[in-house]
Amino acid sequence: MKIVAFNGSPKGKESNTHVMVGAFLEGAAKAGADVENVFLAEKKIDHCLGCFQCWASPAAECVLKDDMAELIGLFSSADIVVFATPLHNDNISSRLKIFIDRLLPLGNPYFAVDAGGETVHPNRGGECPTFVMIANCGFPEQSHFQVLRLLAQRMARNYKTEFVAEIYRGGGAWLTEPAAAEVVARYTDLVREAGEEVVAAGRLSEGTRRRLEEPLIPSPDFAGIYRQAVNRYWDEALGGRKQA
Ligand SMILES: Cc1cc2nc3c(=O)[nH]c(=O)nc-3n(C[C@H](O)[C@H](O)[C@H](O)COP(=O)(O)O)c2cc1C
Repeated sequence: MKIVAFNGSPKGKESNTHVMVGAFLEGAAKAGADVENVFLAEKKIDHCLGCFQCWASPAAECVLKDDMAELIGLFSSADIVVFATPLHNDNISSRLKIFIDRLLPLGNPYFAVDAGGETVHPNRGGECPTFVMIANCGFPEQSHFQVLRLLAQRMARNYKTEFVAEIYRGGGAWLTEPAAAEVVARYTDLVREAGEEVVAAGRLSEGTRRRLEEPLIPSPDFAGIYRQAVNRYWDEALGGRKQA
């Protein structure tokens, strides 16, 4: 089994997202998968021009000559694709969005109807990999991932596949915070388990999914504690200077 992760954080290897993806792929590799970790920040990916030339071309070729041809090859070689992102304005990062838009050559221009009676493009041919979503955000609550949860449903429909795991982490600033290392180690152990589970069982179990949604520290006031820590950080960073 081959798993390819596409990390859409502008911070690449330094990102909070990478802490999650790294643990997930470690678990997956331990369970026997071949894993590849792609940092979109290191790639040249131009915006889709919307010209549909890829659909008119028999070889499904895009007119833009950048790193996307290589990345589409990687995407298509995977059994499982991981879309990984920080939350930006309640949504996926712009880098990940541009990458997903540029998967258009894999689509098919014709209109068909899905099981719910809604119009959909058929896939161009061949099986689509199954998907995993991994995301973190700066705010502490899990409620901030509403848009991503809905996006995952829509992407599964559009690509005629399924998300076998969705791993969302509020309070993401702590993932690379040395003072939170112990708490984060417990969390990454769980993400590692998730990676193992997805390879061994084909999907995340309900029990692990629920544990992944729990706050980073077992306190009913995790959000308050985290907010105070973040505000202290900004007090120090701003050194008493008032914001305009
Ligand atoms: C442009 C921008 C928009 C952001 N929007 C949100 C947001 O809507 N909600 C949120 O909780 N955090 C938001 N954040 C905070 C990031 O999600 C947070 O810093 C995250 O830990 C960054 O992950 P990374 O290190 O993997 O890039 C935003 C950050 C940036 C730079």
